[in-house]
Amino acid sequence: MSYPYQIKSFQEYKEAWEKSVNDPESFWGEIAEHFIWRKKWDKVLEWNFKEPSIKWFQGAKLNITENCLDRHLKTIADQPAIIWEPNDPHEHHRTLSYKQLHFKVCQFAQVLKNNGVTKGDRVCIYMGMIPELAIAVLACARIGAIHSVIFGGFSAQSIADRLQDAKAEYIITCDGAFRGGKDIPLKSVIDDALVVCPFVKRTIVYTRTRTPVSMIKGRDVWWEDEIYKVETMGNPAVAAEEMDAEDMLFILYTSGSTGKPKGVVHTVAGYMIYTNYSFVNVLQYRPREVHFCTADIGWITGHSYILYGPLSAGATSLMFEGIPTWPDAGRFWDIVDKHKVNILYTAPTAIRSLMSYGLAPLENKKLDSLRVLGTVGEPINEEAWHWYDEHIGKKKCPIVDTWWQTETGGMLISNMAGVTPAKPTFATLPLPGVQPVLVDENGNEIEGNGVSGNLCIKAPWPGILRTTYGDHERCRKTYFSTYPDLYFTGDGCLRDEDGFYRITGRVDDVLNVSGHRIGTAEVENAINMHAGVVESAVVGYPHEIKGQGIYAYVIYSGKHHEDELIRKDITATVSRIIGPIAKPDKIQFVSGLPKTRSGKIMRRILRKIAEGEMEKLGDTTTLLDPAVVDDISKGKL
Ligand code: WT7
Repeated sequence: MSYPYQIKSFQEYKEAWEKSVNDPESFWGEIAEHFIWRKKWDKVLEWNFKEPSIKWFQGAKLNITENCLDRHLKTIADQPAIIWEPNDPHEHHRTLSYKQLHFKVCQFAQVLKNNGVTKGDRVCIYMGMIPELAIAVLACARIGAIHSVIFGGFSAQSIADRLQDAKAEYIITCDGAFRGGKDIPLKSVIDDALVVCPFVKRTIVYTRTRTPVSMIKGRDVWWEDEIYKVETMGNPAVAAEEMDAEDMLFILYTSGSTGKPKGVVHTVAGYMIYTNYSFVNVLQYRPREVHFCTADIGWITGHSYILYGPLSAGATSLMFEGIPTWPDAGRFWDIVDKHKVNILYTAPTAIRSLMSYGLAPLENKKLDSLRVLGTVGEPINEEAWHWYDEHIGKKKCPIVDTWWQTETGGMLISNMAGVTPAKPTFATLPLPGVQPVLVDENGNEIEGNGVSGNLCIKAPWPGILRTTYGDHERCRKTYFSTYPDLYFTGDGCLRDEDGFYRITGRVDDVLNVSGHRIGTAEVENAINMHAGVVESAVVGYPHEIKGQGIYAYVIYSGKHHEDELIRKDITATVSRIIGPIAKPDKIQFVSGLPKTRSGKIMRRILRKIAEGEMEKLGDTTTLLDPAVVDDISKGKL
């Protein structure tokens, strides 16, 4: 593979950005020429942010798996597409060449067909980080089924909500998943979800942990048995379904400021081109390099930068089943040395967690294969940035700080490794095709440098979300109505004297806990389900490793247990309703919450208390009962 659109100098970057803004259609049209189409487009772009209606490459026909797999068979068939490193370092790793991955995707695509899955059907995938997860995702894309991957840390209730919202009739899962010292009984969680989802027709179960599972006749089948049936059919080569450019590729649920997660929808052509373009340019991938993105495929980062971006670029993508600290805090570095990783793309929370173990886990690690480092998911603090630079990159590897979102499909603001300047804690400059603007509370654009405001984007790039599944109005309201004719990101941002962007964090009621996005309203709803809880309010507070921690203020009635036990009960409730990732770090029992006379909770005050900034509470005289603030401050944990 070669990438004629790979930018090689700061000057080239500036030219590309200018062109992308002045003439987006010919800019993206030229890039699209480097992909495989069944039929080319009639029009590159048509859009308005009012509805919103965003259409890239209208009239074009393609299949993303022909771009990710088939096209490489002529050139790099035997190159590793996926290197899989298991949770347990004593188990053998697996390598799938492009040829082998193509074969397995076709085989499983036939399994899906045999089980009645057709184009447009929603398929929920709930698996651990094993190659079969990648195979399942790509097999859906091959036959035009819409995949919706759910992260293994979500509870049965969360799965049920998503299955119902997506009306998903098919599920692909495993008996269990290994993560560090734990094994997670995935199929049993699915069974609990299915109690309230009688519309599910089929569950396909892959054996990973040999955890005993119950298999319901007529509904549940084993992956291995289904593959055997396809083998006896002689492994027919499953032709890729011809898809419209704007057909749905996947739904991925993400949290917002309301209690109910929304299904972000990405479509085939624009998403493919944008993930490929950003992968090739930001990480500056070179043919035959090994790229290691440490995210889980249950999140957008895994979709875009373990699967679609790298595979469409013919890259070698390393997929890791485990966690950075098991069996010890040197695991990432062992993997880097073992597989000669060239590009490492991880999250600030992982870096901070590994930093906390000191330098001992780095002893005897060479790390000399590394060429590029990246971060994503949350603002990176100065200390973590320098530790990454010095101890991992040995001051020789450019670090890219990539800002983006589930909704953006791919990286929007980032430096390009070794090509455009880096600046610690700054995502720096927009990618070609991306026009950031800062706006004030009233929606007026703030021009010039050395300013800050709410971050919006002026025009569409190919990877932008198209809708939220089943509720287009919600998409419009959430992203396109706060500021007319702008996409609103929900992030605060500053632009420094050099015009570099630094993301300062969410300005809405969304938390970022260890790079996981969690809505405060969602956590409150879960806490309120616990018997005895009258009311609750949840805010974030700075947490040394997680970035943000979850702080819950709870009004509780009828205490016949001691506080500590009630706290554990509440935590267990949240775990059951959302999943372990949303467990509050601190629970403070209070007698009242600070409310305005109209009954609105003043979260600003609760945030300040949680942050320990009691002197900055501001005006509390407009509160219904100003005395509660004193009480709450005194009881701070
Ligand atoms: C939110 C999106 C993008 C994939 C992983 C998270 C925050 C993301 C950065 C960064 C500062 C960042 C933002 C954004 N965020 N990357 N480099 N610097 N903040 O995807 O779950 O959709 O969360 O993560 O607040 O809005 P997500």
